[in-house]
Amino acid sequence: MTDENPAPKPRKLFIKTYGCQMNVYDSDRMTDALAVEGYVATDTADDADLVLLNTCHIREKASEKVFSELGRLAEMRRERQAAGGAGLLIGVTGCVAQAEGEEIVRRAPEVDLVVGPQSYHHLPDLVAKAAGRPRFSTRRETAAAAVAAGLVSTDFAIAEKFEALPLPSRAATMARGLTAFLTVQEGCDKFCSFCVVPYTRGSEVSRPVEQVLREAEALVDAGVMELTLLGQNVNAYHGVDASGRVVGLGELLHRLAALPGLRRLRYTTSHPRDMDDALIEAHRDLDKLMPYLHLPVQSGSDRILKAMNRRHDRLDYLRLIERIKQARQDMAMSGDFIVGFPGETDADFEATLEIVREVGYASAYTFKYSPRPGTPGASLTEQVPEAVKSARLERLQALITEQMRGFARDSVGRVMDVLLEKRGRQAGQLGGRSPYLQAVHIEAPERLIGTIQPVQITAAGNNSISGNIVTDREHKSASVIESLAS
Ligand code: 5AD
Ligand code: SF4
Repeated sequence: MTDENPAPKPRKLFIKTYGCQMNVYDSDRMTDALAVEGYVATDTADDADLVLLNTCHIREKASEKVFSELGRLAEMRRERQAAGGAGLLIGVTGCVAQAEGEEIVRRAPEVDLVVGPQSYHHLPDLVAKAAGRPRFSTRRETAAAAVAAGLVSTDFAIAEKFEALPLPSRAATMARGLTAFLTVQEGCDKFCSFCVVPYTRGSEVSRPVEQVLREAEALVDAGVMELTLLGQNVNAYHGVDASGRVVGLGELLHRLAALPGLRRLRYTTSHPRDMDDALIEAHRDLDKLMPYLHLPVQSGSDRILKAMNRRHDRLDYLRLIERIKQARQDMAMSGDFIVGFPGETDADFEATLEIVREVGYASAYTFKYSPRPGTPGASLTEQVPEAVKSARLERLQALITEQMRGFARDSVGRVMDVLLEKRGRQAGQLGGRSPYLQAVHIEAPERLIGTIQPVQITAAGNNSISGNIVTDREHKSASVIESLAS
């Protein structure tokens, strides 16, 4: 990679991905962009010529992990160089890159490039530029020099990014499996008072309809059967179609469902305020749209929801879920919860437990409030002590775990369509996913990988369920019995 130590060809790339599904998607797109430049993905930093940390800024812990990992990578580079080996380029991408920019280079001078999420289309140029510079281990770059060299890239040009990034190759998509993510929207205009996303990912931008369809077609053509549409606020999607008309997520889902090879659709993450009628009706009308919705409420207390600037209350949320379940009766819910938002009292927390009991989640994520720099929540004075947050988190998690296990137990006896994705851990076993994203194990021949089969669930474990494939006739009679029972 340097004049003294030419890197062996092909060069190897390792991306370590932190945080959400959008980062997973972005890591794949970065891999695709760098593949064009001759980089081949590897699954460890040990033999990589270029390591990118694709970071998450949502909570403090996530951010801090990045700096300790950078320390380890710098040490690895020193060892390699001491042994006369090849160099190592180190880059930081993702939301920490966006939020902290040149501060990263100041704090961690071993970093060669910093690229925010909207600049990934510049990545090949930035990597080439960084590779052509003098060795960093011998010449400590200052932040200002890195910025001047254009190696800190954090502008906000989402539309340009998607135009410029290459579509994944057919081979790369096939290697990634039967399910894929597809970002349709980025950024957020909601400004919940705890959240950094509006600052790190910028304001809401939707990709044009045809651009999304083209990417979906390419994925399906390479064998993808299930697509999850991604956006920080995906149900605020408002893309423009070829005729200049603005299209919402409900209509986009209809357009995607029309792709013949595509069998399943999902979308995440949504805000309750953006669940419009067309989207709810899509759940009623589209069989391909899975009956499982991630719809975070964050808290069950109206006082806290107001302080969080969620712009909906507890009742709005409960009514909304009622409407969604009316549209699709087998719908199951997932959510996000924050405990210990500033000012949260015991009574507020009890209200959160109460809403969880009322809704009954198939799954949910729980977080301790983490004050994020620059957000309104961080400057509120009534911060909740750490010990109180931990105790609340434990109680909430216990309740949610109980509900998740209950949901799995209630699956026993049901016949569900399972997408068979891969070989299971034991011989003769296959692993798949239920409509509710549960891991499912069944005894079945390998040739059924890549098909969707009706599976009668016979047992529920802590993290997965298992069952047997039933014939179509058995499936139909089971569905009749199920619908009579409900
Ligand atoms: N502290 C704790 N959790 C947070 N989340 C977002 N910001 C914070 C924060 N400052 C959670 C929310 C969101 C999920 C992606 O992360 O629950 O829905
Ligand atoms: Fe953050 Fe709220 Fe936007 Fe979600 S809706 S990304 S929690 S600001």
